[in-house]
Formats: sequence, C-alpha cells, structure tokens
Amino acid sequence: MNIVLRIGGSVIASPLNPWLILEYSKILEKLSLKGFKLLIVTGGGEFARILIENAKIMNMSQESQDRVAIQASRVVAQLLAEALKPTASVTIPRRIGEASKLLKKHNIVVMGGIKPGMTTDTVAVSATVKLGFDVLIKATNRDGIYDKDPSRYPDASKLDSLNFKELKDMFGRIHYEAGLKTIIDPKAARLIAKHRVKTIVLNGFKPENIELAIKGVKIGTLIYG
Ligand code: UTP
Repeated sequence: MNIVLRIGGSVIASPLNPWLILEYSKILEKLSLKGFKLLIVTGGGEFARILIENAKIMNMSQESQDRVAIQASRVVAQLLAEALKPTASVTIPRRIGEASKLLKKHNIVVMGGIKPGMTTDTVAVSATVKLGFDVLIKATNRDGIYDKDPSRYPDASKLDSLNFKELKDMFGRIHYEAGLKTIIDPKAARLIAKHRVKTIVLNGFKPENIELAIKGVKIGTLIYG
C-alpha cells in the first residue's frame, strides 16, 4: 500500500518536538520494512507563523509571506528526513514530480511546501492524486474533524466519517490567507472531493494511530464516498 502522510506543523513543530519526530521515524521505518511506500508532507507550524508575522511587519506581500513560510515546512521535513536516513531520501523535493522520482529509489520521501497560495494540506492531496497513492492520512492536533470548531464550541462532537460533499460544504468556502488555520485547508477540501481521495484525519500526537489506521482500525474521521 502507498500512503501520503501529512504531519501537521501543529503536531511536530509547535514548538519543535524532537522526541515526537524520533517516535515518528521509528514507526515509519517499521512501515517501510513492511513494504509500504510513504510520502510524508510536513507543515511549518509555529515557526512558519512567526515568519509570516515578521514578513507582515515588514509590509511584505502575501506571496512573500507564503514563500518564507514554505521554508519553515522544508526545514521540518529535513529534520524528519535526517532522522529517517538511510530509509528516507535526505533530498527534500521541491515539486511532486521530483518526489515521484525519489520514491523510485527510497521507500520514504519527506517534503514540505511547494508554492505560494496553499498549505501543505493541498500539497499532500495533490501528491496523493498525482502519484495515484491509495490513501491520505492527515495527522493533526485534534482527534478528527468536528461538527463545529471545537476551540470555540465546547459541545462540538467528533465525526467518525464524512462524505466528499459534506467535506466540501464544511470547508470548501473558507477564504485563503497566509498562515490560515483550519483542520483542512479549503483548496485541499475541494481537491479531496473532486478526486474522491480516501482521507483519514487523526490525532498525530499519538503516532501509533497511523499504524492502527493502516490496519483498518476505525480511528479519527474517515472521509470517503
Ligand atoms: P503549513 O501547511 O506549513 O501549516 O502552512 P501547518 O503549520 O502544517 O498547519 P497546521 O497547524 O498543522 O494545520 C503554513 C503556511 O505556509 C505557507 C502558507 O502561508 C501556509 O498558510 N505555504 C505552505 C505555502 O504558501 N505553500 C505551501 O506549499 C505550503
């Protein structure tokens, strides 16, 4: 099975968590030994947002803000790739095509952002579609997708599953801006729905959740059908 795993910056990089990154590297190596091919897409987290705030103070355009934030996600990717060597490539691809070439030689490739105007969610969905991978797993700082924003509504409840239309209705219309914080970015939500990408959103603070999800255990929120 081929998997794209998007690890939220909110999970491993807010602040940077070397122990959790090491835990991820152990689990990912295990999966690689079992024959899985994995493209990991890391977010820039707090570091990306600090850079965006500074770029704003310097009166920079949205595109410039995005470009500096992309570098943050790439540094996080490098850190995970180094922890995973030699299983993973230590070259961090700048494009999905480049990732595809590296995946021919390595079972694991780690990458960050690619271009302004999106988040690494969109990178991860585009990669799943372009590479024809089986599933996208998003490891985030919540237990899954909730019926309303749990940071504002204490009575919000987690959804076990969501179909593509429901996903698009919930997230597809949110307006994009640098550093946007929603559980799934609007462009990514539209792409998941358009290409019918099987997606699992789960709590990334417990990396063992990834293994459980792959085994078919119901965990987080499944987006399908
Ligand atoms: P990230 O995708 O790095 O966010 O995008 P994150 O920290 O992982 O998010 P959470 O908290 O875990 O959900 C951060 C910012 O980086 C820029 C955008 O400004 C985005 O909001 N970015 C990232 C791009 O412009 N292009 C990319 O391909 C990736």
